[in-house]
Amino acid sequence: MYNRGKMINRSNSSASKSKRKSKPTKSARVAKDSRAIYLPAVTRSQSRYGTFADSKQAPIHRWFQYPAGFSFRAVEHVLEENDIVPGKVVYDPFAGTATTLVVCKSRGIESFGIEAHPFVFEVATVKTFWDYDYSELDALAAHLMLEIQIKIKEAESINLAPVPELVRKCFSDANLRRLLFIRSHIAKLNEPYRSFFFVALTCALRQASGAATGWPYIAPKKRIQEKDGVQVFSKQVYQMIADLKTVPEQYRQTPGHLVLGDARQTKFESAAFDLSFTSPPYLNNYDYADRTRLETYFNGFASTWADITEKIRSRLIISATTQINRGDYELADIISARLKGVAPEIALDLQTKVDKLSRLRLEHGGKKSYDIMVGQYFNDMTLALADSYRVLKSRAQSIWILGDSAPYGVHIPTEEILGRIGLGVGFRNYTIQQLRTRGDKWKGNTQRHHVALKESVLTLTK
Ligand SMILES: C[S@@+](CC[C@H](N)C(=O)[O-])C[C@H]1O[C@@H](n2cnc3c(N)ncnc32)[C@H](O)[C@@H]1O
Repeated sequence: MYNRGKMINRSNSSASKSKRKSKPTKSARVAKDSRAIYLPAVTRSQSRYGTFADSKQAPIHRWFQYPAGFSFRAVEHVLEENDIVPGKVVYDPFAGTATTLVVCKSRGIESFGIEAHPFVFEVATVKTFWDYDYSELDALAAHLMLEIQIKIKEAESINLAPVPELVRKCFSDANLRRLLFIRSHIAKLNEPYRSFFFVALTCALRQASGAATGWPYIAPKKRIQEKDGVQVFSKQVYQMIADLKTVPEQYRQTPGHLVLGDARQTKFESAAFDLSFTSPPYLNNYDYADRTRLETYFNGFASTWADITEKIRSRLIISATTQINRGDYELADIISARLKGVAPEIALDLQTKVDKLSRLRLEHGGKKSYDIMVGQYFNDMTLALADSYRVLKSRAQSIWILGDSAPYGVHIPTEEILGRIGLGVGFRNYTIQQLRTRGDKWKGNTQRHHVALKESVLTLTK
């Protein structure tokens, strides 16, 4: 099985049952901890599983181009490898824009997801609701477009003074007024249609913008060809409706339950799920609250840095230095009692890395709090792993796509550390399989470390 480049083992499938006791082939490596196995390379198409490349063109997945998202093909692959069919239940503790849930729904498989970022949660909620009255949706779309067309002159009187600067810099005043005009019309609709059109508008923002809004940074000074907001919105709406109509009718009501909450502490029943498939925030200083500022500011959810800190940043797993206020932490003893309890060796090793990062920090101009970021990330992930263990059925797998990192050049093998913590919270074994190398595009940057990074699949078995 391993040398055919399979992404994960098949311990739930009938094929694997007969092989469960067989030893790994020569090319699979057994780690120091005898319950960990390193699987050999994946195929070329599987190497993209941790990226959003496949999902960019796929119906429904493409509604919001979320660079933190993963490939819908990875979900399909994992469901097939584990014989997950209708009747089984799947869980994604870091659901993001609901790639896992959308694939499950389209196969009639019930799924549950948690997402802590309110805007990302809203996109995910709309992507997983398919049970519209389609003739009403068509009629509403046509009516909305017509009304906007007829009354668009009224947009000229919209006052832009209250609009946050970042949003104003992304559009010409005339285009921004048109977008706000659309927003005011959508606000008059009833649910579930209001959310549908609202998400369509928010997802259209980056496509209409006259500033470079590619991820990760919005660069207002870098100008690109601006597009008319009304046209972009209209195209987005009709594409979303067309995508929804591709779903076979029997799957429109498949339950896909999303919760706005915290993967570190969920309220799901114990032993509820047959499989968990997820991708948590990577330890790579990616500030989800900052990256989605255009959308959250435009839709009025927040209007300042302090606002997004309170409403978004503070709710997420620590994975960026912008989430950290140094005064809140005791550096000499940053590793939590929980982590020390479940994985004492890992805790010691992490404290050493944290200490090293505290020293290195003083040698760098930016003085980034990577020390706290690393310690707190694993404290948070220990809680998420423990909760994932609790909610899974016995023998079920918890599959994580994740990347390692090297802040200030200190290598943090995230997948190995999480595998070991996983054993500490109760999982019986784990495998690691590398998907691809990462960070190669920064090779020329002399300011950056030169540690080779990768993206891997960590599979823990309960
Ligand atoms: C790598 S992304 C997952 C993307 C997802 N696989 C997709 O395809 O869209 C990680 C997600 O975890 C969310 N997150 C961060 N902290 C969280 C927490 N404590 N509980 C639940 N979700 C959280 C982030 O907002 C982000 O959307």
